[in-house]
Amino acid sequence: MGDGHDLLATLRHVRNTRAFTHESVSAEALGTILEVARCTGSAMNAQPWEFVVVRDPEVLRAISQTGPNLPWLGSAPLAIVLVMAGQRPELEGFDEGRLAERIMAAAYAQGLAAGLGWFLAGEPRRRAYALLGVPEAKAMRTVIAVGHPAAGAGPAAPPPGSPAEGMKPASPRKPLAELVHHDRYGAAAAHGTGSGS
Ligand SMILES: Cc1cc2nc3c(=O)[nH]c(=O)nc-3n(C[C@H](O)[C@H](O)[C@H](O)COP(=O)(O)O)c2cc1C
Repeated sequence: MGDGHDLLATLRHVRNTRAFTHESVSAEALGTILEVARCTGSAMNAQPWEFVVVRDPEVLRAISQTGPNLPWLGSAPLAIVLVMAGQRPELEGFDEGRLAERIMAAAYAQGLAAGLGWFLAGEPRRRAYALLGVPEAKAMRTVIAVGHPAAGAGPAAPPPGSPAEGMKPASPRKPLAELVHHDRYGAAAAHGTGSGS
């Protein structure tokens, strides 16, 4: 990783990419992503995670067919499935979010792109457990596709009918004026915390 400017630019640039080229992800880039993941902080330093790195195109295609919300995942050359310990759901949910975001940022910091998908509760998730051979006691819901973004595609819109439908590509973010309170909740934002975009 580079200096603070690079990190801030990367963090602002992270989006959910859903279209990839066929170009593979180098072993070095993958190694860097996994190393960043490994270093993620967690509640009580439990590090309650394991990763299934999926590169087999057949398995990637099968994952993309587990539910209606992941059809784009079949175009990725690689996916990282987060397998959480399943012992402390509340804390692990937080840890999983931190982990996912760092994995995505580590991809973008290397000129790659990433897209997060969710194994929907019920039949889609059951299919994913069976497909990947993950023990039932573990908590598995998140899959992160990694690859080179398709030319001009940017983050593609979720497919019609998917739970993510309605979320626009490169969705705008709420302005800080709507989000930041000063000294007490509900107090007007008068401190010039900047705008959103
Ligand atoms: C917990 C979680 C689950 C998500 N599940 C899916 C999903 O199943 N399919 C999908 O296409 N996007 C999924 N997303 C991606 C969101 O749709 C995306 O973060 C949001 O639309 C903002 O996109 P942007 O950063 O590209 O603007 C998920 C995101 C999160 C945080």
